[in-house]
Amino acid sequence: MATQLIFDKGLANTVAAETSLSFIDGEKGVLEYVGIEIDALARQSTFEETTFLLWNRRLPSQDELSSFERDLRKEYELPSGMIDMVRKIPRSAPPMHALRTLISALSFFDLEADVNTPAANARKAMRLVARTPGLIAAFDRHRKGKPIILADARFGIAEDFLRMLNGTEPTVAMARAFDVCLILHADHGLNASTFAARVTISTLSDMYSAMTSAVGTLKGPLHGGANEGVMHMLEEIGTMDRVDGWVQERIGQKDKIMGFGHRIYKSYDPRATYLKTFSQKIASDTGNTRLYEMSRRIEEIMHEAVAAKGIYPNVDFYSATTYASLGLDIDLFTCLFAMSRMSGWTGHCIEQLEGNRLIRPHAEYKGPHGVKYLPISQR
Ligand SMILES: CC(C)(COP(=O)(O)OP(=O)(O)OC[C@H]1O[C@@H](n2cnc3c(N)ncnc32)[C@H](O)[C@@H]1OP(=O)(O)O)[C@@H](O)C(=O)NCCC(=O)NCCS
Repeated sequence: MATQLIFDKGLANTVAAETSLSFIDGEKGVLEYVGIEIDALARQSTFEETTFLLWNRRLPSQDELSSFERDLRKEYELPSGMIDMVRKIPRSAPPMHALRTLISALSFFDLEADVNTPAANARKAMRLVARTPGLIAAFDRHRKGKPIILADARFGIAEDFLRMLNGTEPTVAMARAFDVCLILHADHGLNASTFAARVTISTLSDMYSAMTSAVGTLKGPLHGGANEGVMHMLEEIGTMDRVDGWVQERIGQKDKIMGFGHRIYKSYDPRATYLKTFSQKIASDTGNTRLYEMSRRIEEIMHEAVAAKGIYPNVDFYSATTYASLGLDIDLFTCLFAMSRMSGWTGHCIEQLEGNRLIRPHAEYKGPHGVKYLPISQR
């Protein structure tokens, strides 16, 4: 009997995978990684421990965590061929284009690139999470004409990334703030980039190809690119007195305001709740409250205008101001998202391969039939 196919635009009502990594209740505003509320992880965990959780689907013991961190740090060092490759990228290249290419190129230096056993994939996941920060930092320094700083295994991922990027060791508070951002972005159900990664690995391609698909998918302004959009919007608005007029005009034109709305959350995104508090604290600690105050006013206006439609701030809205307060360049924001999501993407690939079936949906054909082929001379 033929299966009945239902067209579901944007796959909004299609369940296309089973996962034990993260759970989202969009109505209640809940996000859990392996059953643990995101808020508890943001307050108490580290990015390394969260990565262990996503890959092993349980929390590590102290010994397991220490050995996991040691294993990750052993993989920090970039193959020297990768540094050469970073130096060959035009300085004008947008960072996400550079990152997509560099993640793909990592496979040249991995003898296991095409080995799809669970053990080899676990090692590749480790290398990808460990090396992505160094790649982003190296490209940023290269494009600014500064010497590339190599990774240092004495530091955790968040701290070492900020050190490689800025050339100075971050304060404990900055490193912790960034670590929490990495935790909050690490996984999020079957979002578009995770879906892309799972589709790629489901063909039994390889982990590097899957990550390249994921980075390319994350880049879009409807997905990971939105946090950059938020900062551009804040820059365009410029000052507090222009907020109301600017936002009302966009709402009137039915434009989408970056950092609002979500396919799944129809109430407050729990990650945004945390980041809002965070961005407020950084603003008051640094005395630079302009961006935070503008964001808060935008949120108030949006609440009155579109909350009834289930449109609330998403993770990108306050992560943008948090990153800006940490002094991170706007065009790196999506790379930072990729650096964190690398742990979720690789975890999903491992999970997909545990019970793999090629992901291959249908398309509803809307074109004509029986059209005669007309030779080119008669067209
Ligand atoms: C995330 C997003 C793509 C979800 O899209 P979706 O589930 O397809 O939702 P839709 O685009 O169909 O929007 C549903 C309604 O809400 C409105 N809406 C959605 N996002 C909005 C936004 N950011 N600003 C203003 N209105 C918005 C739409 O105009 C639409 O209104 P209508 O029913 O009157 O036509 C969408 O909300 C968006 O583009 N947001 C801005 C980009 C962003 O921040 N992305 C990061 C996601 S984490």
